This record gives sequence, C-alpha cells and structure tokens, in this order.
Amino acid sequence: MSPIAKIAQLLSTALLASLLAGCERPPINTVQTGFRGTGMEQIYNPRTLAKEAGLNQAPAAPEAAPADGPKAREVYQNVKVLGDLSVAQFARHMASITQWVAPKEGCVYCHDAQNFADDGKYTKVVARRMIEMTQHVNAAWKPHVAETGVTCYTCHRGNPVPAQISFEPKDRLYANSALGDLAGQNLASRSVGLTSLPFDPITPYLKEDKPIRVNGNEALAMRGAAANRSSTKQAEHTYGLMVHMSGSLGVNCTYCHNTRNFQSWERPQRTTAWHGIRMARDLNNDYLGPLKESFPAARLGPKGDVAKINCATCHQGAYKPLYGAPMAKDFPELLSALSVPAAAPAAVEAAPAKTQ
Ligand code: HEC
Ligand code: HEC
Ligand code: HEC
Ligand code: HEC
Repeated sequence: MSPIAKIAQLLSTALLASLLAGCERPPINTVQTGFRGTGMEQIYNPRTLAKEAGLNQAPAAPEAAPADGPKAREVYQNVKVLGDLSVAQFARHMASITQWVAPKEGCVYCHDAQNFADDGKYTKVVARRMIEMTQHVNAAWKPHVAETGVTCYTCHRGNPVPAQISFEPKDRLYANSALGDLAGQNLASRSVGLTSLPFDPITPYLKEDKPIRVNGNEALAMRGAAANRSSTKQAEHTYGLMVHMSGSLGVNCTYCHNTRNFQSWERPQRTTAWHGIRMARDLNNDYLGPLKESFPAARLGPKGDVAKINCATCHQGAYKPLYGAPMAKDFPELLSALSVPAAAPAAVEAAPAKTQ
C-alpha cells in the first residue's frame, strides 16, 4: 500500500471511531410496550442497568419494636414530632435514620453527645423537618408514591446530602462576546442530558409553576381564543424538563407518551408523573425553601438558594425508586403525622382530564 493510501486509511478509521464515540456499544435490549410497528418500545443498556441495580437495593428493616411502655414525650425533653412512639420504637427510629442518613458520622451528626435534647446543630433542626416532610409525602401524595412510599433512604442512600439535588445555576451570560446572551441554554449541560436545551429545567417547573404544556388544541389555530401562543423557545424549555425526567427514571419518552400524540394521557405513567411534578413543587416550596435560614452558607447554591428536590433525588435512574421496594411500610411512624396537630394534608389536585 502506498504511504498516501495508508494515511488515508488511518484518517478514515480515526473519523469512523470519532463518529461512533458518542454511540453505546451493543448489546442493547428493547422491550415492546405498544402495538407492533408503532415504535412504542423501551431501550435498555444492560451495563447501565447493572450499575443501577447495585445503587437501588433497599436495606433490610430492623425487627419492629414493642409499642408498650412509656411514650417518648414522657421520657425525653425535646421531642416534637415522634412523641407518640414508645421509647423502644423511638430508639429503633433513631438507629434507622442514622443508618440511612449518617452511617459514618453516627448519632453525633445531629446530636451534641452531652445533651441529646439540645437543638444546637442545624442537622437536627433539618432532620426534624425532614421527618415531617417524609410523613407528608406518604400521607398526602399517594397519587404519586402509592403504597410504596418513601423513607429517608429513598433520597439519602447513606449520605447526609442526597447525591442528586439541584441548585439554580450561575448566570452564564457572555455579554460582549461573539456568543452573546446564552438565554439559559446553548451549552452542552449535564442537567439536560448533554443537550444544548435550557440548562435549568428545575427552577421554572419543579419550584415555580411555569406552564409545561405547549401543544395547541387545534391544528394551526393562528387567531382567536383557541390560538396556541406557545413559542418554540417555550417548547425548548419543556423539552429540557422532559430530558431531565427521562434521565432520572432511566426511560425513553415513550414510557409516558405515545409519540403519535404527546398530549394524550393514554399512558398511566404520564398521569403519575403529572402528580410527581406537583409533589416536587410542594416539597421545594413548603419544606426545603423555608429551611434556608437553618442551612450553613456552604450548603447553599451559587445564587444562595437551598438545594432543590428533582425527579432523580428519589428515582436515581430507576423507573420506581429502589425498583418499588416497599420500605416505608416497616416504619409506620413515617406513614402519617403522629403527634403533629391534625392539620389535614393539602388536597391533591385532580389529575388532568383524559381528553386533553
Ligand atoms: C439525622 C439526624 C439524627 C441522627 C443521626 C440521630 N438523631 Fe436522635 N434525634 C433527631 C431528631 C430530629 C430528634 C427530635 C425528634 C422529635 O422532635 O420528635 C432526636 C431526638 C433524640 C432523642 C431525644 C432527646 C430529648 O431528650 O429530647 C434521643 C435520646 C436521641 N435522639 C437519640 C439518638 C441516638 C442514640 C442516635 C444514634 C443511634 C440518634 N439519636 C441519631 C435526629 C437525629
Ligand atoms: C425527598 C427526598 C428526601 C427525603 C425523603 C429526606 N430527605 Fe433529608 N434532605 C433532602 C435534601 C434535598 C436535603 C438538602 C441537602 C443539603 O443538606 O444541602 C436534605 C438534607 C438533610 C439533612 C442535612 C444534611 C446536611 O449535612 O446538610 C439531614 C440531617 C436530613 N436531610 C435528614 C433526613 C431524615 C432524617 C429523613 C427521613 C426522616 C430525610 N432527610 C428524608 C432530601 C430528602
Ligand atoms: C416520566 C414521564 C414522562 C417522560 C419520560 C416524558 N414525558 Fe413529556 N410529559 C409528561 C407530563 C406529565 C407532561 C405534562 C406536564 C404538565 O402538564 O404538568 C408532559 C408534557 C410533554 C409535552 C407537552 C405536551 C402538551 O400537551 O403540550 C411534550 C411535547 C413532551 N412532554 C415531550 C416529551 C419528550 C420529547 C420526552 C422524551 C425526551 C418526554 N416528553 C418524556 C411526562 C413525561
Ligand atoms: C419523594 C420521592 C419521589 C420524587 C421526588 C419523585 N418520585 Fe416518582 N415515584 C416515587 C415512588 C415511591 C414511586 C413508586 C410508586 C408505586 O409503587 O407505584 C414513583 C413512581 C413514579 C412513576 C410510575 C412508574 C411506573 O412504572 O408505574 C413515574 C412515571 C414517576 N414516578 C415519575 C416521576 C417524575 C417525572 C418525577 C419528577 C417530577 C418524580 N417521579 C419524582 C417517588 C418519587
């Protein structure tokens, strides 16, 4: 072979390799979820699944503790949420949250070892509110979490700070540069699966309630009340959120949509997801947001905001967190508010009408 032909061959091999670098290598598994020929299928990479399987094992629950004997509130000095538990149940609860949230640090992550009643550590103040938040999720958000429910482990997985949380990103404006105003997009960002879609889908949709739906009800309705006024830019923001949701659950768009009609509610998973969006907003606004004063500055984001819960905080790559392991049932104190004054859980909005 002539040297020129050899160089050409090397170059074409390098080009081919660079083109394929973005692809996943086979084998890839496909599971059909709709009629043959309609492309309703889920695509799974067995290597990604193997990695996630390890991450999504629920720890075994300790044996239930006896409910008799004096109550925690009678014995301890500063118990505001779990006072109705027996002392044995209270000890089991403390041991469990230690295992779920601070297994390396132990009791002193939240407590002053000299005085367990003291509220001086911010972690204890936050943990008390987290207990109430977990009870609220399990009691008020059954349309999303069903009987499976959540425990501290669903989000924390043995870490004081959950692995998947969001902060408002720094402004990325390139004034006076050829790139100009990035308009919150046009950068390959991890938060949106390395696409150039708007890179903060969390603040507008999982904290604020900016409208997500962008499709019109009539084909090309250009004027009048029925006109669809959503812009392409708005649709890009919606797509950013959709990439976040797909990535968080490890699924394709067709897990929730039949792509012949993105507006249709025919896939029940879409309705579950609709409730999940409202649940995330509720937790971010009523629980995480108001804890801002409790957190030290080092725990706040670049813009000074508290960590936000997103779909991946609980799901961590699985279609159901921990593949649906029903952990919460072994901790009845986390299923409903016990000694919290009987405030009725905020009514959950009805699911959207089927025909939209
Ligand atoms: C993740 C934080 C956290 C960890 C870790 C933790 N606790 Fe607690 N503990 C709390 C909170 C919050 C309360 C208050 C509960 C309430 O108000 O109902 C509390 C209350 C207590 C009390 C009652 C003190 C009083 O007199 O008011 C005792 C005793 C206690 N914990 C023991 C332990 C032990 C023992 C461990 C380790 C096995 C432990 N805790 C680990 C958060 C934690
Ligand atoms: C839905 C997800 C979720 C659940 C469930 C949850 N947490 Fe959290 N937790 C968070 C987020 C988000 C933060 C904020 C992260 C940070 O500290 O910056 C947090 C922070 C904390 C912190 C502060 C840690 C630190 O070092 O700053 C403690 C302590 C804590 N949680 C305890 C608990 C306990 C105890 C439970 C169960 C009763 C629980 N959490 C359940 C999401 C959750
Ligand atoms: C986990 C379920 C889920 C996945 C996965 C998902 N979506 Fe969605 N999608 C929804 C829900 C729920 C809504 C409506 C949100 C609302 O109204 O609050 C929606 C809305 C939309 C809309 C607007 C439809 C309208 O009525 O205007 C489009 C377009 C869309 N999704 C595209 C996608 C694309 C593209 C993907 C894959 C990248 C995707 N979705 C993945 C649940 C999902
Ligand atoms: C507080 C934890 C938590 C958060 C946050 C959360 N989920 Fe879930 N999700 C769950 C649990 C638990 C289940 C399992 C319910 C069951 O067993 O039916 C679930 C189930 C689902 C399902 C049904 C899966 C199926 O195959 O039936 C979808 C879809 C879903 N979640 C989407 C979302 C989306 C989208 C978000 C973000 C907007 C989100 N979830 C945020 C806890 C959470």
